[in-house]
Order: sequence, then C-alpha cells, then structure tokens
Amino acid sequence: MLKKISLGLLAILVLIQFIKPAANVSAGPQANAIGNKYPMNDVVKNALAVACNDCHSNNTKYPWYSSIQPVSWFLANHVNDGKRHLNFDEFLVYEPKKMDHKLEELIESQEEGWMPISSYTLIHKDAILNADQKKAIIDYAKEVKAAVGYVPTAEDLAKEKQRKEGME
Ligand code: HEC
Repeated sequence: MLKKISLGLLAILVLIQFIKPAANVSAGPQANAIGNKYPMNDVVKNALAVACNDCHSNNTKYPWYSSIQPVSWFLANHVNDGKRHLNFDEFLVYEPKKMDHKLEELIESQEEGWMPISSYTLIHKDAILNADQKKAIIDYAKEVKAAVGYVPTAEDLAKEKQRKEGME
C-alpha cells in the first residue's frame, strides 16, 4: 500500500517536471521603466536590484532550484502576483493616480518593513535591506511622488482612510 503511494507520488513528481510556467525574462532595455523618467542613485538602483526586481520587474534572476517543480510554480506565483501589484518596468504606463498610490505603498513598505516578503529574505540574505537602503528608497519614492504631483481628490482620501482602517 505504502509502496504504491510512494510510486504514485514519484510518478507525479516526475511528470510535473515537464509542466513549466513561462519565465519572467524580457531582454533589452525596458521602455517604461521608472528610472527612464525618474533617475535614481546607485543606492536605490542596487537595493531594488537585489531585493525587489525579481518580483517587481520584467526580469527575474532565477536560482538553479527554480527549474525544479513544484518550486517554479511557487516562484511564478509570487512573481506574477508581485508584478501585477507593482512593476517598476511598467511604471511609466500607470495613470498619475495609480503612480501616486503605488509610491505611497512603496514608502509604507519600507517604513513598515513588509517588503521583500519573508520567504524571499530567508534565501536571499542580501535582500534584507539596511536602514540606509530603506531610507534611500523612501526618499526616492517621495521625490518621484512630488514630481508626479498627483493631487488626491476628496474621494481618494476617503478611500485611503477606509483602506487603512480596514487593515487595523
Ligand atoms: C518574492 C517576491 C517579492 C519580492 C522580492 C518583493 N515583493 Fe513586493 N510584492 C510581492 C507580492 C506577491 C505582492 C502582492 C501581494 C502583497 O501585497 O503581499 C507585493 C506587493 C508589493 C507592494 C504593494 C503594491 C500594491 O499594489 O499595494 C509594494 C509597494 C511592494 N511589493 C514593494 C516591494 C519592494 C520595495 C521590494 C524590495 C525591497 C519588494 N516589494 C520585493 C512580491 C515580492
């Protein structure tokens, strides 16, 4: 009985190796990358590269074990979800209102320390950002926010308040 189950599991493990999600790799310069319009200093660039871009850009650096199933599904899920929420390589396509909101979230993510997600820092130790790196990201986000210059409407502010209350 146990042997049959193990064999069954083994067969499944072998079979799923052939079903791979599409890799998030897009070569060449990214026309809509945030840095094209809002240049960032090297501290910010480096911090985003080591800690964020794997899930928030059009290019993920895949570790060797990412080609093993079901690991690659787990990673693809995070990458797709992360990109859907915020993609630094598609930032310039966003409406000003969306830009403003994402920048606000970006600031909060570093002030409150909820990004990068813990399953990522478990493996990528250099993605644990120090205070200077966090501050550099926050300062940059504030700068871009000012440059975008979106003025929230009363409705936006009410929604934001509601959202924050919902999180408490
Ligand atoms: C391993 C993948 C991964 C990494 C690395 C990662 N994120 Fe995320 N991020 C996600 C996912 C998934 C979500 C959406 C779900 C959620 O909010 O938890 C998200 C959401 C966000 C949001 C919220 C966007 C919104 O719509 O509200 C911000 C801001 C953000 N991440 C910033 C960052 C920053 C800054 C870094 C680097 C310091 C980073 N993330 C690193 C996966 C990642």
